[in-house]
Amino acid sequence: MADQPKLRLGVNIDHVATVRNARGGAYPDPLRAAKIAEKAGADGITAHLREDRRHISDADIEGLMDVLSVPLNFEMAATDEMQQIALRHKPHAVCIVPEKREERTTEGGLEVAREENKLAHFIAPLREAGSRVSIFIAAERAQIEAANRIGAEVIELHTGAYCDAYAEGRWEEADAELSKLRDMSVFAASLGLEVHAGHGLTYDTVTPVAAFPEVRELNIGHFLIGEAIFLGLEPAIAEMRRLMDKAREG
Ligand code: PXP
Repeated sequence: MADQPKLRLGVNIDHVATVRNARGGAYPDPLRAAKIAEKAGADGITAHLREDRRHISDADIEGLMDVLSVPLNFEMAATDEMQQIALRHKPHAVCIVPEKREERTTEGGLEVAREENKLAHFIAPLREAGSRVSIFIAAERAQIEAANRIGAEVIELHTGAYCDAYAEGRWEEADAELSKLRDMSVFAASLGLEVHAGHGLTYDTVTPVAAFPEVRELNIGHFLIGEAIFLGLEPAIAEMRRLMDKAREG
């Protein structure tokens, strides 16, 4: 379908920093990865500054703001410290994610419905500073409605449950999760929200999500950085870009 808007690819470079931090030195350099990602067709770079700084560092965020030619999507927890950092750098986009110290990765979506007032106050200054605010949520009606009420411009749907079910061969569940993602993309877009999606996506799982016309951006990291070990970063990203474009063609 030629009239579909382009699907943007945000490459998450967190796990380049994970490998760097395993030895505590300077390489591999996430900024170098970001520049290669741009060359390979990334429309944006995503980085999550976690409270425990387990991968991306404050200096990485500063460096990314300096060197990037594409927009930075700054993932952060809804804490005062992160708000101050975002207000200082004013990245193109901020994505508010839930964060627990003991988790290995961002396990679920944000509980917007339960924290509506607090989150509305939290995101207001970020929007005023010019950042587009995205909220990372499960594909649930109540969360989407709450994200819309608090003034978010974008929601990012958590694709982890779909990807996990697929990886473990639970096909019916994978299909059910995919249906939810599709229906909730349509619902969110009908409210005027821009829809993004991400978490756990691979070459095997990206196609159906990329084909949803309402989805405007995918954020993909861990799989790509892993695949770069075998293919190199630029070809690994270029292949994801190719699969996304093909899915979009129908
Ligand atoms: N989107 C959000 C909001 C995330 O928190 C993450 C993981 O940091 C991703 C996308 C990318 O997930 P993955 O690294 O599994 O591709």
